[in-house]
Amino acid sequence: MGTENLLVDIKDGVALLTINRPKVLNALHTSVIAELQETFEALNANQAVKAVVITGSGEKAFVAGADIAEMAVMDAQQALVFARTGQKLVNYIGTMPKPVIAAVNGFALGGGMELALACDFIYASENAKMGLPEVTLGIMPGFGGSQKFARLLGRSRANELIFTGKMLTAAEAKEWGIVNAVLPLAELVGKALETAARIAGNGLLGVAHVKEAIRRGLDMTEPDGMDYESVLFASLFASRDQKEGMGAFVEKRKPNFTGS
Ligand code: HXC
Repeated sequence: MGTENLLVDIKDGVALLTINRPKVLNALHTSVIAELQETFEALNANQAVKAVVITGSGEKAFVAGADIAEMAVMDAQQALVFARTGQKLVNYIGTMPKPVIAAVNGFALGGGMELALACDFIYASENAKMGLPEVTLGIMPGFGGSQKFARLLGRSRANELIFTGKMLTAAEAKEWGIVNAVLPLAELVGKALETAARIAGNGLLGVAHVKEAIRRGLDMTEPDGMDYESVLFASLFASRDQKEGMGAFVEKRKPNFTGS
């Protein structure tokens, strides 16, 4: 399974999606963004998939950004369409019920950093370098990076990082709370797959609902977020997974969740 620029490997409920354009450090051309959109929609609809890991091919880059050669000749109208197409993808990843882990195996810059930030969390390799260098090209972030970094890092850190366009090392990104774990390159994807498999063994409806509660709750006041949490919590009691999960605990056996 896969497309021209993407490799897809599905095993034991987890899909490994690899962006495969190593000659240009996996840069996001419009065609790659379209393939990612199509592939994420297919994985979301695929009953055999419970969690997704996304990485880049080669040992140098996750994604070194949107394709600069393509953007270089865009006019403002084309740039708007391009930004909105990328934003549609990052919004899709952020709102799809299935969890997505980014395994950042090298440079994650510009649109590549924004793609990683769209995922539910990030693991990085020791050689990873991350940042939003758009201002060094005379532009600014356009796939959500200004909004995501300001919320994740706070205004001061986001401002300095984006205004300078500098790259963070993996260790710095961990200290700043951008990545959850820093691993040797050879262990990165395996560890991300292991975490994804652990999530895939849980009740997918519960995971999907709490993904939504956390995402939507971040834009709410805390009391509104608590209300929303309780409604989603209660709705799970109409699911088979709730009966299975609690029944299995009482019967001292492993639950067999179906995501329904
Ligand atoms: C197109 C790219 C690319 C990119 C690298 N390449 N990044 N092509 N778009 N974003 C290509 C190079 O041109 C080169 O092709 C090959 O990949 C290898 O890259 P090198 O530069 O030779 O490698 P190296 O010297 O190791 O430097 C690595 C690097 C550098 C530091 C990551 O490639 C770099 O600065 N890339 C651009 C990073 C960037 O500015 N990203 C943000 C883009 S703006 P050839 O043919 O020469 O071998 C963006 C906007 C998002 O993402 C929002 C849009 C709405």
